[in-house]
Amino acid sequence: MKNSILSFVVLAVFVNIHLLIGQTNQTLSEPLLQNVYNREATSLNGNWKYVIDPYETGYRNHRNWIPFDQMESTKNSAKPYYTDKVIEERWDRVEYNFNTSAEAKVPGDWNSQDPMLLYYEGSLWYRTTFDYDIENDNRLFLYFEGANYQADVYLNGKRVGLHLGGFDPFNFDITNAVKSKGNSLVVRIDNRREKDRVPNYTTDWWNYGGITRDVKLIEVPATYVEDYVIQLDKDNPKNIKGYVQVAGKVLKNKVTIAIPEAKISFTGATDTNGRVEFTIPFKKIKKWYPKRPKLYGVQIKVDKDVLNDQIGFRTIETNGADILLNGQSIFLRGISLHEEIPMRIGRAKSIEDAQTQMRWVKELNCNFIRLAHYPHNENMPRLADKLGILLWEEIPVYWGIDYEDPKAFSQAKSQLETLVHRDKNRASVIVWSVANETPDTESRLEFLRQLKKIATDIDNTRFISAALERNEKDEQDVVKIPDPFAADVDMLACNEYIGWYSGLPEKCDQVTWKLPDNKPFFVSEFGGGALYNHHGDKLTRWTEEYQEYLYQEQIKMLKKIPTLRGMTPWILADFRSPRRNLPIIQDGWNRKGLISDGGFKKKAFYVLKAYYDEMEKIYEYVIKD
Ligand code: GCU
Repeated sequence: MKNSILSFVVLAVFVNIHLLIGQTNQTLSEPLLQNVYNREATSLNGNWKYVIDPYETGYRNHRNWIPFDQMESTKNSAKPYYTDKVIEERWDRVEYNFNTSAEAKVPGDWNSQDPMLLYYEGSLWYRTTFDYDIENDNRLFLYFEGANYQADVYLNGKRVGLHLGGFDPFNFDITNAVKSKGNSLVVRIDNRREKDRVPNYTTDWWNYGGITRDVKLIEVPATYVEDYVIQLDKDNPKNIKGYVQVAGKVLKNKVTIAIPEAKISFTGATDTNGRVEFTIPFKKIKKWYPKRPKLYGVQIKVDKDVLNDQIGFRTIETNGADILLNGQSIFLRGISLHEEIPMRIGRAKSIEDAQTQMRWVKELNCNFIRLAHYPHNENMPRLADKLGILLWEEIPVYWGIDYEDPKAFSQAKSQLETLVHRDKNRASVIVWSVANETPDTESRLEFLRQLKKIATDIDNTRFISAALERNEKDEQDVVKIPDPFAADVDMLACNEYIGWYSGLPEKCDQVTWKLPDNKPFFVSEFGGGALYNHHGDKLTRWTEEYQEYLYQEQIKMLKKIPTLRGMTPWILADFRSPRRNLPIIQDGWNRKGLISDGGFKKKAFYVLKAYYDEMEKIYEYVIKD
């Protein structure tokens, strides 16, 4: 961060914003472009100017706290008020200047870039400038991989749109707003925890704010591939099935799909809405397996647009308590992880960060990861596809959000739709999870059931799950999952902390589990805290020996459960949390990691690895096709 002296400035800017009527919590962005990961892009990453605005001087009228964009006097005014030129003209009423302000790295949370911002929760305005010439009648999209939590985007003094959601990508068509020289892109980010947000008031992770992921410009031809699904036909895996959605100038068009290595090609015509559906029989295809993560080059063409992807083809289904991958029973040797590299603090965001986490995952002999508790950046599912790591992905419907508020639902819906939309072509993803430790109420149940329908309407080929809670309330030491949503999930998952929050590790040997026998059971969290290199006897909390003993007792207990088909112990590495303030031991860290904040493995790491080595042999499978 240059000019680390933080300039607290008053941002007195009247922003003229047309807020579409009724667009309360919906984002104003366009449909998300599919597979931006493989499109040619102009990166806007780098040092962006910023000014901090804790009192919302640039966003709300200070006399009545109403956002400028909802004020009668400004929302219909013709002239955009927010441009550098206007600011210079009205210097007397404006007390900030991007040009001489501090700089922040984008992508990057602000908390880890300046000690003054470590705990900051509020609004902060970013600005960058760029030149851009659009070729011919192409279209230009401004694409954000993610920003936490609300992003209000302005280009050359005009509102482009807003996005709500801390971990999902969004894009805006800026074809008609961009100029060839001196574009001024201003983004207000507000990371406050609000009642109607998802998550809302409290989480056991750091509320990293800012433009936390890549920002890029994507130029596409006038007619382009907007979306597609290309995967094995769930009902007849001798076919490849899906659709291509064309957008732009000429919707009725010819589309070709080629998978040269599999000698598959398809030519079809889109309808008046730009959509073509297909079912393509094939003779032979190498399926995707964790041990042989075969990816095929897939090329989709419409008009001048040529889009390449790398897609793995596999089936995933349950059969009673078994999980079948390509028809063979597997055990999910997993681990949970947050989007954070402990040695560096701050949001993980790059391919190098993903490689660091995947290296640890492989050392643990995992074939599965729970990407907790929110959509991670796209490097993770892309790398998991390549490395043969199966994934559980989830949205942060976490603990006590407001299940009665339609605004909260619309945000959960938007985040889930975007996650499924972004990763529906990734072979590694096999679980969409819609909740974590949520209260057992009628409104919450309805909320989750609607989310399940939203996910399965987009993609019915993967499991729906949720990290439910167990309890032993009605019968002493008989563990059940009384949650009614247990009937709605394909894979029954629960978090349990027997031996940490509930009793000592020896309690694991005293309980029995009472579970349905017609569904795979999965432990989405268990674990306990240990400070690395803090040693003592196995009943002294916070020692590595206690954590090691806890893992030994947990594994002994879980092995007895006949329907157990996997687990993702909590958690791969120590992570930052403002809820964890035990001096000397935690100091703002959750210490349940198997790896310390310095990147060192604790004793329990090796207990879990030994178990996974054993389970790998028991669930050995043959690569048949
Ligand atoms: C919960 C929650 C996690 C949290 C963990 C803990 O199960 O899902 O987000 O970090 O407990 O207490 O460490």
